[in-house]
Amino acid sequence: MKRLLVGNWKMNLLVEEARAFARRFRELAPEWKQENIEVGIAPPFTAISALVHGLSDLSVSIGAQNCHWLNNGAHTGEVSPSMLLELGASLVIVGHSERRQFYGETSKCVALRAQSALKNSLRTIVCVGETAQDYEKGNTSQVVHQQVSASLEGISKEHSRQLVVAYEPVWAIGTGLAATPEIAAKVHLQIRDILLHTFGSNIGEGIPILYGGSTTPENISALVSQKNINGALVGGASLKPDLFAQLIVTAAKADNLS
Ligand code: PGA
Repeated sequence: MKRLLVGNWKMNLLVEEARAFARRFRELAPEWKQENIEVGIAPPFTAISALVHGLSDLSVSIGAQNCHWLNNGAHTGEVSPSMLLELGASLVIVGHSERRQFYGETSKCVALRAQSALKNSLRTIVCVGETAQDYEKGNTSQVVHQQVSASLEGISKEHSRQLVVAYEPVWAIGTGLAATPEIAAKVHLQIRDILLHTFGSNIGEGIPILYGGSTTPENISALVSQKNINGALVGGASLKPDLFAQLIVTAAKADNLS
């Protein structure tokens, strides 16, 4: 499978800054556009349109950082899959740990969002990952198993082809302390087993599992060359076009064991 690198801008960059990003990232396309790589960016809702217009002809998938499970209704503050599709978005992140930690998002809610996004043909990145406390107590495997199973509940085989899972240990996000390739690979193998068991070997083998948490051009190569690490969800390093391009180029060149 191709490596998938997705930028998660979180609550950063104004529309004008997103346009400037797109201009520079376009200039750098001859470097980062590689056969074995797929690229996506999830800006804030407000900048989706700017990136769709600025980059989608370069086959960059543009998407959102969340979406509701209904297409319309009395849900103040929410944005629906059909609203994203109307803007030209083609992917969405659901269940990011910042949503789980600070906005009370449960795996049950994440599963509803994921089911609906997939039915609406959005490539859907379901995030899981243990907190520092879970990690220190040795509970990573248990927490990840529980989150993956519950967040993928109700996703049919038919819709799972557009599914992506991201393993993002909370202790590694934005801390500069990325998981070692060995630690990440162990969890990715566990997730792969759940996917094989849930969706069967044909589909389960083909679902990309991304690593996220303090990825940089310096550490990306060692991470994506591990078996079952099929790409990355990149926060801070995706905010600057030169840095993101450098990270993508490095990932493209890394050995391929998966
Ligand atoms: P980071 O964020 O790369 O800045 O650690 C990753 C993420 O939260 O998706």
